[in-house]
Amino acid sequence: MESDMMPKRVTVVEVGPRDGLQNEKGVISTEAKIAFINMLSAAGFSVLEATSFVSPKAIPQLADATEVMAGITRRQGTRYAVLVPNAKGMERALAAHVDEVAVFTGASETFVQHNIRTSIAGSIENFRPVVSMAREAGVRVRGYISTAFGCPYEGAVAPAAVAGVARELVALGVDEISIGDTIGVATPNQVGDVVGALREATSLDRLAMHFHDTRGTALANVLAALELGIATFDSSSGGLGGCPYAPGASGNLATEDLLYLLHGMGIETGVDLDAVVAASRYLAGVRGLAPASRYYAAATATA
Ligand code: COA
Ligand code: ZN
Repeated sequence: MESDMMPKRVTVVEVGPRDGLQNEKGVISTEAKIAFINMLSAAGFSVLEATSFVSPKAIPQLADATEVMAGITRRQGTRYAVLVPNAKGMERALAAHVDEVAVFTGASETFVQHNIRTSIAGSIENFRPVVSMAREAGVRVRGYISTAFGCPYEGAVAPAAVAGVARELVALGVDEISIGDTIGVATPNQVGDVVGALREATSLDRLAMHFHDTRGTALANVLAALELGIATFDSSSGGLGGCPYAPGASGNLATEDLLYLLHGMGIETGVDLDAVVAASRYLAGVRGLAPASRYYAAATATA
């Protein structure tokens, strides 16, 4: 099982406050979001995706992005990242003094059309001013490619299509690309196929994997990606999440479950697992719902 490529240290990108809360049915107060993010900051993540500067009509759940960014206590050593779809979102993000922005497109046309109301090519055009504004401001840029392993509307997605979009993002000048299994359909062999295709587009150290655990394959996919040398993974505390434009998508891979696997394998993350459980416990109280994380369930079970 040991592979020569296996990283000794992994960056875990906590996306719960964004990928998780964007999909919330109930209303979470701005104060609760701020408290949740502050607890996650205390856990020691080097990157924390806090909210989205998207259209409040598209995602009313995150309409308070400006207030959230103004209210959190920033930890030294944590980059606070936000989603930005266009120049308007970038203006709002810069005014909120974010450290990193993420632009987002996908590997299948129908999904991109539903999610951001344009084509893949159109999305790249919308990102052009975003990336140049980011460059000027010294803000790091991440690019998401959703539906990289399957699309809720189109079904199978060819690895070559993912690599094609990655090439466009690289040409735009993004610093990192996160490969999303938006609907949680990937299996480990597919991870090999997609990473294999992506090698032609960019270097491994610029790739992150973003798995959803809809069908229980997320950790197996992480292991496959680790063995290929991938060293950045997105996850959400408690397994929060889903996507409003991906019917049937359940939560992200839970951060607790990912950390348990990585730490057990002797891979460093710099993140305190108990502190993540505490943040999940807080949010579970706010939502009145138990987290989906398996590790959380085991750690909080009373005998
Ligand atoms: N921040 C705030 N408002 C924004 C905005 C932004 N980044 N981008 C657009 N808007 C507003 C416009 O001002 C306009 O408002 P008005 O109707 O009051 O004039 C309205 O939204 C429509 O703007 P338009 O440029 O025509 O956008 P659109 O309707 O084509 O929608 C997106 C495109 C990308 C802005 C929108 O679909 C979106 O924000 N999607 C995000 C989806 C998402 O976050 N999905 C989950 C992540 S995977
Ligand atoms: Zn996601």
